[in-house]
Amino acid sequence: MRVLIIGGGGFIGQKIARALAKRGSLRGAPITELALADLAEPAAVEAPFKVSLLTADIAERADVDAIFAMKPDVIFHLAAIVSGQAEAEFDLGMRINLLGSVNVFEAARGLGTNPVVVFSSSCAVYGGEIPREIEDWTGLNPQTSYGAQKAAAELLLTDYSRKGFIDGRGPRLPTVTIRPGKPNAAASSFMSSIFREPLQGETANCPVGKDYELWYTSPRMVVENLIRCAELDAAALGENRCFALPGRVGSIGEMIEAMRKVAGDEPVSRITFEPDQRIYDIVIGWRPHINAKKATDLGLIADSSFEDNVRYFLEDDIRR
Ligand SMILES: NC(=O)c1ccc[n+]([C@@H]2O[C@H](COP(=O)([O-])OP(=O)(O)OC[C@H]3O[C@@H](n4cnc5c(N)ncnc54)[C@H](O)[C@@H]3O)[C@@H](O)[C@H]2O)c1
Repeated sequence: MRVLIIGGGGFIGQKIARALAKRGSLRGAPITELALADLAEPAAVEAPFKVSLLTADIAERADVDAIFAMKPDVIFHLAAIVSGQAEAEFDLGMRINLLGSVNVFEAARGLGTNPVVVFSSSCAVYGGEIPREIEDWTGLNPQTSYGAQKAAAELLLTDYSRKGFIDGRGPRLPTVTIRPGKPNAAASSFMSSIFREPLQGETANCPVGKDYELWYTSPRMVVENLIRCAELDAAALGENRCFALPGRVGSIGEMIEAMRKVAGDEPVSRITFEPDQRIYDIVIGWRPHINAKKATDLGLIADSSFEDNVRYFLEDDIRR
């Protein structure tokens, strides 16, 4: 079993790589090679099998063909530029999030082996005039360029799967929090930094009110679910290749109280609330009330509380 993680130097890519190193197998077969590909050489991951560290720009077809030379059986396509940057730099978003994804799907098709492709889509595909409660069959109506690029790539993933070119799976990720590291250009960046920085003795600003609700998942759960997506039988997926992953809904205020329960008053006192209209305008269009019935029926799982997310962050990212 050969596995390729595109965007393998990123936050989720590195966590999937470490999880696969621990498991040693995927889809019932031992992993013989794992390749991590990214714009810059990804950090090495210790594993009981061969790990290759590759550089590629997915917007360049020749680069994509070069990383596919290892003939992967399973591809995790995670490379993207995030929401805030795709909104600010439209051409770059089109080049990477849409054309880059087409390059990846075409290279996977070129293998001629119907490989499994797990594509990380986003809850940003929902928005506009749709019901408050979102079901698997709710129409996609993205209100950002990032969401539109993800939705367009989803349609292609489904069509390439229908044609038998690839065996695609397009889970729509909730916001992943608490993300380790530094703030990034995602409009959702504050949804991690208002917990991550205060838990490490620093201040952080929340640009929206405490009543803002989000649909979220922990890094631990999203990694587990993306691996489960790769493991699913194509027959179980049926014709709808793209679906929401299970997540939890919480308001910023409820999540802050959960952090207080785990870590006390001090981290909470380090959060400031200065409104930021640019961030607000993007995140207000994201819908938190999502019924992920298909994913749940397929055996994908949600966190049990935000307290757990805080504990996972302290265990997985601070200790590490
Ligand atoms: N983290 C979240 O909350 C969240 C939520 C919804 C969807 N997603 C999706 O999950 C995926 C992974 O997210 P993440 O949080 O790990 O992001 P990340 O930014 O940490 O990782 C993405 C990686 O893609 C790489 N990349 C960007 N452009 C590239 C290019 N042209 N060629 C090759 N590599 C390129 C980046 O260098 C980065 O390492 C993304 O597709 C993102 O849209 C994430």
